[in-house]
Amino acid sequence: MAAWDVALDRLWGHYALSSGVVTRSLPLGDSDLVLDVGGGTGGVSARLRPSVRAVTVVEPSEPLTRRGRGVHRGVGFVVGDGRSLPVRTGSVDHVLLVEVLHHVDDAPAVLAEAARVLRPGGSILIEESEFGGAFGRLRRWAESVLLGGVWPRSRPELLEALGRLGFRGRVLEQEGFVVVAVLLERPLGEPATER
Ligand SMILES: C[S@@+](CC[C@H](N)C(=O)[O-])C[C@H]1O[C@@H](n2cnc3c(N)ncnc32)[C@H](O)[C@@H]1O
Repeated sequence: MAAWDVALDRLWGHYALSSGVVTRSLPLGDSDLVLDVGGGTGGVSARLRPSVRAVTVVEPSEPLTRRGRGVHRGVGFVVGDGRSLPVRTGSVDHVLLVEVLHHVDDAPAVLAEAARVLRPGGSILIEESEFGGAFGRLRRWAESVLLGGVWPRSRPELLEALGRLGFRGRVLEQEGFVVVAVLLERPLGEPATER
């Protein structure tokens, strides 16, 4: 495991924390297909793998994808961008966006793609760190400088932004002060845009 994965996992407990949020939040079934967009080295996906039929990480970084393939044999890895997923319309039961939206240039485009590949009645789970308090404001400022923009990070801001994009989101849980999980359910029968 690379140093970065070890730090995330052992010091912050990120993979255990995030995969716990996913398993508690989504009705995962053993015939389900899960797409982990921006899934990095697959640490979250690997923990979900025993509960579902298949998990595939779509990750733009080739080095992260290579590392993930070497470590998590049961997880599928595809190099790709969340703005244009190499996945059939309406073919996936759950899409995960774990700590991804604040890294992408065009979060609305990534959400639209997630909705396209989702089967009717499927769910998108967004997990983001909430930037509350003085530490949160500092982190928000640092990210806006480093990443050049910050996707809405408070729960009301996030829900409002999702609503403007036509998604119905609800906050599922908050782990300590860091994690906000939002479940987006596409209404049954709503047509997906073909591609
Ligand atoms: C903080 S990491 C989170 C990784 C993983 N989801 C996790 O929780 O361990 C953010 C990830 O978003 C990915 N990312 C950045 N831009 C992206 C895009 N346009 N489409 C998909 N993923 C993207 C990065 O390569 C990186 O792996």
